[in-house]
Amino acid sequence: MWRNVVETHIIPWAFEDVELGAKILELGPGPGVTTTCLGGLTSDLTCLEIDPESASTLARRMAGNGVRVVAGDGAAIPMADSIFDGAVCFTMLHHVPSVVLQDRLLREVIRVLRPESVFLGTDSVASGPSRLFHLFDKIAPVNPQDFSERLRAAGFANVQVDVRRHEFRFRARKPANRGDQVG
Ligand SMILES: C[S@@+](CC[C@H](N)C(=O)[O-])C[C@H]1O[C@@H](n2cnc3c(N)ncnc32)[C@H](O)[C@@H]1O
Repeated sequence: MWRNVVETHIIPWAFEDVELGAKILELGPGPGVTTTCLGGLTSDLTCLEIDPESASTLARRMAGNGVRVVAGDGAAIPMADSIFDGAVCFTMLHHVPSVVLQDRLLREVIRVLRPESVFLGTDSVASGPSRLFHLFDKIAPVNPQDFSERLRAAGFANVQVDVRRHEFRFRARKPANRGDQVG
């Protein structure tokens, strides 16, 4: 059922009118439902998953597909600056357990993106049923109303956040290097 939701609702909405570059980072792939969809959209995909067991299961499943899976924390990305042409995360931000860590993750994402690259994603909007679903999980729901401001505070530009019934999507761009800007 989740695969169907991801394929027909989440990924098409997240990517509507946006194109990412060639080398993409996915944060929080979990079991890889979103990763499988992304495989069709890019030829150079790296996944960063904080749960070592999920990371090694996904690495085994993706072996031979050209997808690189790394165990690590999106709030301390174990990768060099400015190496990705795009970054994505789906239904994972609220699993980063505090606003402080989420904001650190946003700053880490902008660090590893090349100038002018896009960070996009989706997350759920907190509701009674979603709180019940996560009753025993340590989560920090993201408020879409102030998420634009948080993306800007991390350094992103061209920020867009759209809310629909159960979820929101966001897009934001790392600004061009100052020296590259005209005028
Ligand atoms: C609900 S799952 C979403 C999986 C997938 N993106 C999807 O939509 O099907 C959230 C995933 O994010 C991972 N995660 C949480 N915090 C993370 C962090 N700081 N860095 C990387 N991954 C993280 C969790 O371990 C989990 O696998």
